[in-house]
Amino acid sequence: MGIKQSFELHAQLHLNDISHHAIGMLRRHLPAAGVGEWQPQIHVANLDFQEAAARLIASYRGARSSPRILFVLDQYGFSDASLPVMQSIFAAFPKAEIVLTVAIDTLVNFASPNTLDLYQKVLAKAGFDAAVTAEHLASIKEEEDGAKHIIQTLFLKEVFPRTGASFATPFFIIPRKSRRGYWLLHLANNMRANDEMKQLHWEPRRGPFARLQAGSMATPGAGWRPCPGTRRRRRNHRRP
Ligand SMILES: C[S@@+](CC[C@H](N)C(=O)[O-])C[C@H]1O[C@@H](n2cnc3c(N)ncnc32)[C@H](O)[C@@H]1O
Repeated sequence: MGIKQSFELHAQLHLNDISHHAIGMLRRHLPAAGVGEWQPQIHVANLDFQEAAARLIASYRGARSSPRILFVLDQYGFSDASLPVMQSIFAAFPKAEIVLTVAIDTLVNFASPNTLDLYQKVLAKAGFDAAVTAEHLASIKEEEDGAKHIIQTLFLKEVFPRTGASFATPFFIIPRKSRRGYWLLHLANNMRANDEMKQLHWEPRRGPFARLQAGSMATPGAGWRPCPGTRRRRRNHRRP
């Protein structure tokens, strides 16, 4: 039986989007949105993410107490929240956590000998190009059975540890409409935070998580099995 102590939560919620339309809509709906017992101070900004992140880092870096910081970066694709910005977040706040959406199926599907230049540019925009090249990913796609999972593992092993996070834990989500899967990727240095995130996943009715890794999923690059829905059939012929 544990001892429960009450505590006060002084929470600051910073909401940012580059789109004027999205921010206008958010401002209209915020007053009616309930936050229950949790009463954060809410700040809304209409900035490019890089600028918003730089401002937040500058303002919290000098904080007297060491705040717990969680960035939720919900991007459409995989390059808006770039690797250098995530690096600067973990460099300033090693105890921070990032929850990031990554359009992993799109990222893998894009790998093709026919789109090498464009793909390399996109990888560079995301800051992934020091870790992986378009040419290498496209060659895996051409030559390997199970290429999708090999490429996903490469991103987990070679790309996301460069953010500075010791734990990169992906939860694979398949949207009902597009069927193009994406990751909800949790990045953290703190093992407890990582455990809590996985615990949430196992609690019933916590959302449409399908687990990508089994067993030791906490360590980037640890052995993992694809969830059944993402298993790739063996191809008997190559694409022209
Ligand atoms: C997947 S939507 C997020 C939706 C939002 N989380 C929600 O649940 O309604 C991605 C958002 O990222 C914004 N966005 C794209 N590039 C951005 C950037 N460089 N900086 C800030 N916001 C950006 C888009 O305007 C878009 O609203």
